Amino acid sequence: MLKEIQAATDFLSSKIKGSPEIGMITGTGLGNLTEKIEVDFRLPYKEIPHFPTSTTLGHKGTLVSGKLANRSVMAMEGRFHIYEGYTPQNITFPIRVMSNIGISRLFISSAAGGLDPQFRPGDLMIVTDHINLTGTNPLIGHNLEQFGPRFPDMLEVYDRDLIALAGKKALKAGIELRHGVYVGITGPSLETPAETRFLRMIGADAVGMSTVSEVIAGVHCGLKITVIVAITNVNNPDCMEKTSIEEVVATANTAGPKLADLWERIIGDLPE
Ligand code: HPA
Repeated sequence: MLKEIQAATDFLSSKIKGSPEIGMITGTGLGNLTEKIEVDFRLPYKEIPHFPTSTTLGHKGTLVSGKLANRSVMAMEGRFHIYEGYTPQNITFPIRVMSNIGISRLFISSAAGGLDPQFRPGDLMIVTDHINLTGTNPLIGHNLEQFGPRFPDMLEVYDRDLIALAGKKALKAGIELRHGVYVGITGPSLETPAETRFLRMIGADAVGMSTVSEVIAGVHCGLKITVIVAITNVNNPDCMEKTSIEEVVATANTAGPKLADLWERIIGDLPE
């Protein structure tokens, strides 16, 4: 694993101009997050040594490097999921590489189903904590000591200063920003009404099929992490409605510009 991480790092380092400080991951329908980047280079994952390749609807599968709000960023346009058959170690390979390249912050966006009945499709939620219900963990196996400890602490995963900054920026921009707990599952099947009730009872406000593995690997790498999800559908166990991937992608697309605007405002005011 380390050899492969190093090969991808060396390959990308030879192409990068500045020194990226922020890594970004975007998912389903949220591609316009990266439209605002002044691009130095954009590469399909398949051209990067050992990178997994993305297969999911609404995911581009390219890595872009450049400047956003005058800060140096690397962004993954499209991510990998456990339901595609990847291991959590595969999924988090690019995070190891970005960490090696020198990023100190990881900004993640994804689509999620709302569990709080007050939520509406198209809402944005900043993640304050998570529950890993994927049944696995990207840190299983030999510990990569170079990156972090065997038993990383998970008390304060989501950067509190950034949660406060995001709240301020959203208020100023007139964007309603929900706060809540994200529960990660593997999918690809959606939740039954009984599962939905269970997820709500254990304390989750939104559910999704990505993000938690990425966050855990990011913590292991010592990165400051911020996650904002787009609520694409709201699941109420007492009057459950069908959820289609087309609807999820369409709602994520409509939330995309609002989310991109908020990220840009946050990055524009980021502490050094
Ligand atoms: N469940 C799980 N993942 C999701 C959902 C959902 O309802 N919506 C978007 N991603």
